[in-house]
Amino acid sequence: MCGIVGYAGSRQAAPVLLNGLEKLEYRGYDSAGVCVHNDGGLNAVKAKGRLSVLRDRLEGGSALPGTVGIGHTRWATHGAPSDINSHPHLSWTGKIAVVHNGIIENEARLRAKMLRKGATFQSETDTEVVANMVGYYYEKHGDFVTAVRETVMRLEGSFALGILCQDMPGTIVAVKKDSPLIFGFGEGEHFVASDVPAILKYTQTVAYLEDGDMAVFDAENVVFYDSTGEIVEKKQEKITWEMSAAERGGYDHFMIKEIFEQPKALRDTISPRLRDGQVNLDGIELSAEYLKNLRKIYLVACGSAYYVSVLAKYIIEKTCRIPTEAMMASEFRYCDPVVDERNLVIFVSQSGETADTLAALREAKRRGAQTLAIVNVVGSAIAKAADQVIYTWAGPEIAVATTKAFSTQLSVVYLLAMQMAKTLGTMSTGEYLSLVEGLEQLPYDMDRLLSPKALEKCQYLASRYHAHHDAFYIGRNIDSGICLEGSLKLKEIAYLHSEAYPAGELKHGPISLIEDGTLVVALATIEPLFDKTMANIKEVKARGADVLCVTLEELEENAAAIADSTIAIPKIHPLLQPSLSIIPLQLFSYYVALYRGCDVDKPRNLAKSVTVE
Ligand code: G6P
Repeated sequence: MCGIVGYAGSRQAAPVLLNGLEKLEYRGYDSAGVCVHNDGGLNAVKAKGRLSVLRDRLEGGSALPGTVGIGHTRWATHGAPSDINSHPHLSWTGKIAVVHNGIIENEARLRAKMLRKGATFQSETDTEVVANMVGYYYEKHGDFVTAVRETVMRLEGSFALGILCQDMPGTIVAVKKDSPLIFGFGEGEHFVASDVPAILKYTQTVAYLEDGDMAVFDAENVVFYDSTGEIVEKKQEKITWEMSAAERGGYDHFMIKEIFEQPKALRDTISPRLRDGQVNLDGIELSAEYLKNLRKIYLVACGSAYYVSVLAKYIIEKTCRIPTEAMMASEFRYCDPVVDERNLVIFVSQSGETADTLAALREAKRRGAQTLAIVNVVGSAIAKAADQVIYTWAGPEIAVATTKAFSTQLSVVYLLAMQMAKTLGTMSTGEYLSLVEGLEQLPYDMDRLLSPKALEKCQYLASRYHAHHDAFYIGRNIDSGICLEGSLKLKEIAYLHSEAYPAGELKHGPISLIEDGTLVVALATIEPLFDKTMANIKEVKARGADVLCVTLEELEENAAAIADSTIAIPKIHPLLQPSLSIIPLQLFSYYVALYRGCDVDKPRNLAKSVTVE
């Protein structure tokens, strides 16, 4: 959600900023803008809509000459998407320009105060308040850095800010709290950005800014300050992945590329943690005594990461016999949860910066719980805030709809459940070994589901069902968890109304909505419950539904006798089965979205990193 980028160097800034913003598009946005220091003045160009509109307005960058500038992709919160509400925002004095990712929670009070001081406003944004405050304190103190400091100490909420001052042509001030910001070191040039891909074309050497940190820099020099105003050294880190990891390669969309990357992502996540037939989660300390005294494990997350948490409930309860509950972070943080030191609270997040998940984590810590995070982005806020962290090694995920991050999160849940079950002695050796074997085999099983023939089948089914208006995903037990994720995929990228229900709940409401032409996707991969799910399929068929059934290869014939169409997946360990069932559901949604002409990688209104509440 929103992305910022800043550049000071000897190149033309506008093309560098446009390039950086393009790499931040994945975060979700509805308008964009840049401001470049030029001829002693601050010149901003902004545009509602896709970056291409801004690019045209800037004639590729050449319309805005200058070597120092800031840029922004905006996802509207305060005020509709419009040219005026787009960033950068200038102070009413015209001397300060600001880009901002985050939300200023006390903006109404600050706006009123600035109005009293004589400031005027053009936009409805919280960011213009920041620009006017820096403008005001700059007039008062005559010092840019002091003006930023005076402003920041009065802000409540979250922010990553990039700020220019008309009287200091070469300088950018960047500061952050609760929104990500990285600093990039180049040869005679420096960068700031919300995420690594924005600057990876120019440098692989970065520093991660901590909350309260401020960077004051020009092309040659940078000084970092901490929240107390002390000068600090920042550790320079090398980014180990290549730009190609964040590019589409030969694929039409990031989503399909990332679907195909799942076997590798799984190998990278699992292999280092499975040695000599044993799970080894290096550094994770969960002793038998601690686990035995646990009252309950919570898993807390948003979106697909929440659905991983729902699956984790089945997996952990089955293997560890510890009561486990999945909760949406936005609910957990405000529900006065019964949580103290007798609870382990696990937070699942790809980005590591989802606002609700981060807030829920702080709430759990405040209540004395031990916290553990399953995170993809190294050094992210959630990874830093949790007591312990297990990284998923999915690599950068760019498509808004998650695929490989989901799969790797699930694989970490398996590893964690197995390690805890072993410590507790709740799993037989035979079961443990069969899960180890199954996990090692999983990437190969996934490969089979990504064969040209398998793709063709999903594409054919999408051609058959893409014009439907409503879909219901039904399944039992762990299948019902995967229904949630399958249904979300369809709704978020194909804009097809879709709901997921445990199949046994059908008769308690949703069946009233089944009529001619309703699509029902039934998951039936659990042998002992197969007949029950078939009975549910018969019920919806009797009311006119078109049924697509995902089942095991050996059950396909039976399913095909009842459902309209089937997808068969190989039979593996029942607990691991969701890792395979999700693949055809991802592919199905992808192809349905294509048939419906949707923007697969950047679905409307959605953002990849939801950094505001
Ligand atoms: C957004 C994304 C989802 C993601 C969710 C949680 O809704 O589109 O793909 O599952 O946020 O994000 P996180 O980064 O915390 O996993």
